[in-house]
Amino acid sequence: MAKKITDKVTWVGKVDWELVYFHGKEYSTDRGSSYNSYLIRDKKTVLMDTVWKPFGREYVESLKEVIDLKDIDYIVMNHNESDHSGALPLLMEEIPDTPVYCTKKGEAIIRGHYHKDWNFVNVKTGDTLDLGGSKLVFIEAPMLHWPDTMFTYMTGEEILFSNDGFGQHYASESLYNDEVDQGDLYHEAMKYYANILNLYSPMVAKKIKEILAMNVPVKMICPSHGVIWRDNPMQIVEAYQKWAEAYQENQVTVVYDTMWNSTRRMAECIAAGIREADPSVTVKLCNSSKLDKNDICTEVFKSKAILIGSPTINYGFMYSIGGIMEMIRGLKFKNKKAAAFGSYGWSGDAPKMIAEHLKAGGFDVIKDEFKLMWVPDEDARKKCVRFGKEFMDAVNGAE
Ligand code: FEO
Repeated sequence: MAKKITDKVTWVGKVDWELVYFHGKEYSTDRGSSYNSYLIRDKKTVLMDTVWKPFGREYVESLKEVIDLKDIDYIVMNHNESDHSGALPLLMEEIPDTPVYCTKKGEAIIRGHYHKDWNFVNVKTGDTLDLGGSKLVFIEAPMLHWPDTMFTYMTGEEILFSNDGFGQHYASESLYNDEVDQGDLYHEAMKYYANILNLYSPMVAKKIKEILAMNVPVKMICPSHGVIWRDNPMQIVEAYQKWAEAYQENQVTVVYDTMWNSTRRMAECIAAGIREADPSVTVKLCNSSKLDKNDICTEVFKSKAILIGSPTINYGFMYSIGGIMEMIRGLKFKNKKAAAFGSYGWSGDAPKMIAEHLKAGGFDVIKDEFKLMWVPDEDARKKCVRFGKEFMDAVNGAE
């Protein structure tokens, strides 16, 4: 259902309360999501971004209740991943000649997805589209989150349409940041950053500098997922500035998997040792086979150091550890210390292999891997506590 944002701008997107995964099963969306599309009515009319294909028919029908589609002068596609461009083919069946404004890479992606020869107009940073009263100013923002991405700034209404940037997978009946639970909102905004944008942090930092240097008033930031930032919109820009600079809190996360609880016992004793060395530090334990993988990546994002533990199985590590290590490698976390541990019965290969993966993923492995045979007895548990203490001393000493 359409919702008016300003006299000239109406939200015409779709709130998807049922979404539980995104990007296949790569991203868990515990609080659903939304695909935000905006209708701008000035002397000229613009439709900005669409929605994911399963909602395409519903989207086009709802749009018809708001406007005669033939009155849409331009379509602006800020980013053409399927969640935003999926409804475009259905829409274009109705208005096939309408110009589609996007970056050159955006055109290539649309062509690659839908194989249509629509009326594309390529735009780059600084190009404008005059709507009569207000103007749209295009700002390329490659890798936020795909190479084609751009932001669009609307003069007069002073709105920054940022597509994925500043977004959250967060379904809400309210459109605005000041009307939702702030804990949920920031959890989802940070999870989105950690799991989708962190690896592009250098581009995020650069783009924010560029936008701030434009020195334009920003009354609202309208992303393509989640709520609109209307109350102090710059708060999320400031959060992104912090997140983009090798973000960390005073936290250590211990990620492990376990077959018969020996590695779990090790993890718990190591955690106790960490707290003994530094009672100010927050320590979190995450069993990678039981906890949500994206929440674990968010905890890693918040940490100044991590430990990863696995028993040795088949001369290697457990599969959930393999999965999480691949995720944290790809997300390119910076300035984080690490170490590996695990229990074993005979070969004991896992901790060394984990340490190698951590190094390859850019982690600073500050302590040799630690392994224990069979089930830890009291003496072995004391060794784990000592290992945790020494690890934390090394983290603090290395700071
Ligand atoms: Fe929401 Fe990169 O698409």
